Amino acid sequence: MDEWKGKVLLIGTGFLEQIVKNYLSKEKIITMQGFKDVEAKFENFQDGLFFSIICDSSLSEAEALEAAQLIKCQSPKTPLFYVSQKREGFAPKKFIKNGFNDAFLMPFDEENLKFKVLDTISADALANRTFRAVRPIDMPIGAESTFDTFVFLPLNNKYVKYIPSGTEVTQEKMQRLERSNHGRMFLDQKDMSKFFEHTANHLIKMNATSNTMTETEKEEKLNTAVRSLVFDIFDASQDESIDSGKEMLVTCQKIVSNYITHGSEDDWYAMLIKNMGGSGGGYNRVSSISTYAALMGIGLGLGSIEDLAIAAMMCDLALSDVPIELFDVDPKTWPEEYKKIYETHPQQSINLIKKKKLVVSSAAEKAILQHHERFDGKGFPSQRHGHSISQEAQILSVALQLYDLTVPVPGKAKKTPFQAIEEIAKNGSISPELGNNLIKMFSDKHGSNIKKGKSA
Ligand SMILES: [Fe+2]
Repeated sequence: MDEWKGKVLLIGTGFLEQIVKNYLSKEKIITMQGFKDVEAKFENFQDGLFFSIICDSSLSEAEALEAAQLIKCQSPKTPLFYVSQKREGFAPKKFIKNGFNDAFLMPFDEENLKFKVLDTISADALANRTFRAVRPIDMPIGAESTFDTFVFLPLNNKYVKYIPSGTEVTQEKMQRLERSNHGRMFLDQKDMSKFFEHTANHLIKMNATSNTMTETEKEEKLNTAVRSLVFDIFDASQDESIDSGKEMLVTCQKIVSNYITHGSEDDWYAMLIKNMGGSGGGYNRVSSISTYAALMGIGLGLGSIEDLAIAAMMCDLALSDVPIELFDVDPKTWPEEYKKIYETHPQQSINLIKKKKLVVSSAAEKAILQHHERFDGKGFPSQRHGHSISQEAQILSVALQLYDLTVPVPGKAKKTPFQAIEEIAKNGSISPELGNNLIKMFSDKHGSNIKKGKSA
């Protein structure tokens, strides 16, 4: 079975090949067409043969579950992933219970699948150089970096080396990064283990407790928690009882208090700046918007921070069938089938959570239903006007726009958070009072950071 060694096994249609060819070199992929092929060959599978095995939803559920049992008997330690193309009938918990290490729902999960697969392979299996985002705040100042770090320039779609391996990480270099609104630095995929070792050593030196995490790890945990919550809502194999709905609400509340609002009361603006520029796929978008909405709520002194964060997590649930790259362009240019989903998604998102008996507050429900309404009456779905749109819905709208205006998109210049807020305040989407408050709030913080030498 030498021809199988050191490869990723794909079981299913060409769709999986299309997905992984962006990061796996062709000669490191082997494909088996379906269950019959696996049944004929599985006796030769053993741990250490394949890097990982990915099975897609072209196999029926029964076939996929049986394939998992056969594969796990022969090669229990080889990571085994399930990839579904459709939300209908997606039951991740059932798949994980039956032997799969993880289940992914396309297209939203494409980035997560990529990183899970990359963690299983050796460096020579990579098709291209692959970069991973980390938080600049995790880089220990004064220490020599043990790996190259890069910044991403969206307009030129280029990664440029910023701190070469063996060079000291200085305060000045990191401040320059913050001044130019780079919320992320990038590392070569093969250096990720060095990054975690380097930052862990630093945390130990700082006498941090064993459960102290880097900001990069915290962000990953937040994305994982949000993804798992969304999966619980989608999961066709989970019950739809009042108790399970209550449990989900408690999970939402825990995510908000552990990862979003914890420690943010002191300096919501610094937290917001640190959270800018995320680019880790579908769930990173959801968690970023949730974080922005909560932090602006704190800045404005509102009482409904938790409602804001929860509404942000839920408002675009029904958009999970839309290809992730469409989020980078105006929905008016989306293909007809997706345009339809877009126009009805606020209500559809509410329907999804209600089906699971997840009862959110009326403030959160209004925010979800009205997050695309505009103060000038040109929004949707109900063309509400002026103050008939709730305050929370308007803040959620700001958070979504802030994300879209500041996220690095190849070929597009990104705006600074302050430029973005100035634009949003004047574009008719929110009330003039809220716009003025936000501009004042951002310019006060922005200004005080200039004085401290923190920001330009
Ligand atoms: Fe939306």
